[in-house]
Amino acid sequence: MSKAFAYVHGRDDIVWMAQNTNHLPTHPAIEQAIRDSAASHEYNKYPLARGLPRLRELIREDLGLPDAGMHITNGGTEALYCLMRYLQPPGSRMITSDPSYFIIHKFAKLGGAECTDLPIYGGSYRFELDAVKAAITPETKSILLIDPLNPLGSTYPREEVRALCELAAEHDLWIIDDITYRDFAPGHTLATEFAPERTIIAYSVSKNCGLAGLRVGALVGPQEFIDDIASHMVSDLGTSIVGQRAAIAALETKAEWLPGNVKTCRHNQAIIKAAVDEVGGAHLPVYPSAANMMVIDIAECDVSPQAVQDALLYDHQVFVRAGNYVSERFGDRFVRISFSLPTPEVKQFAEHFPRVMEQLCDSA
Ligand SMILES: Cc1ncc(COP(=O)(O)O)c(C=O)c1O
Repeated sequence: MSKAFAYVHGRDDIVWMAQNTNHLPTHPAIEQAIRDSAASHEYNKYPLARGLPRLRELIREDLGLPDAGMHITNGGTEALYCLMRYLQPPGSRMITSDPSYFIIHKFAKLGGAECTDLPIYGGSYRFELDAVKAAITPETKSILLIDPLNPLGSTYPREEVRALCELAAEHDLWIIDDITYRDFAPGHTLATEFAPERTIIAYSVSKNCGLAGLRVGALVGPQEFIDDIASHMVSDLGTSIVGQRAAIAALETKAEWLPGNVKTCRHNQAIIKAAVDEVGGAHLPVYPSAANMMVIDIAECDVSPQAVQDALLYDHQVFVRAGNYVSERFGDRFVRISFSLPTPEVKQFAEHFPRVMEQLCDSA
């Protein structure tokens, strides 16, 4: 993968569909906030460790959780890393899925914890309650609920969130509610609604607000929990002040641009589906996706996901991701693509994908 990243970061003509980043236009207030922050030289100082009060207030409003505890972090990534250090001691277990966003599993394993990766590729493409129940052991400390799920784009109906919360309460488990892609999902349910005392939210402005490069996120949960974990955070010197100013502007204006962006994503998904339908044997396991990404299953095409990634990237500058990054068991079946991009770029993918598949099949 390092070769691919060196390639894409060295060019300015890449159609960026490999990292679920958001390249859609948002609001001029965001760029203005970045300029104003730079012009004021406020970056000379360390920011407040827990984050700017206005940003904390806006995230509480965004989630409808006026009393939640909050710590602003360097992306959701720092929130998740610190959470793993804090919640998952050596020998403990976390219930996870395969496919999943494996970086979180890696953080748990780095501290000596283990992950129970339940296979969810098939069926509803999300956790089944009975399987989660059967996987609980005395060592289990938490359930990692990524909703919507990276990479599949599946989401949990309200009643299933409730059932998972009840199960967590019965077994005294934490729910880690990773809601990085929440804004793309219609009618998303926060686990906090059913289990406020045992839900910790990993929050991010990377994907919804298109601010991945500014590295701002948050850990949100019961006040006492956040007070306690605050002294265990990696950075007690705060999070990029410029990033926080941009996040404030993004959240203040979100109602003006988010619905249009979600609509564009839906339209882009339909364009991708039409291209996938042209390829015999390829299909979309979860359609429509409730996130800004989905997977294309090519298992019946007799072509490797890595070959598809390479051909699209090096021949056409379209950057998608082979499935092994997000699935140990099923990664050789699919490629993952994100579609929070201007529609003409998604059309480039739609134009090239069927032809690349045909060429690869012919040469197989
Ligand atoms: C499920 C999930 N959680 C967390 C993150 C981390 O996001 P960030 O650190 O940019 O906020 C990602 C990034 O892709 C993700 O897919």
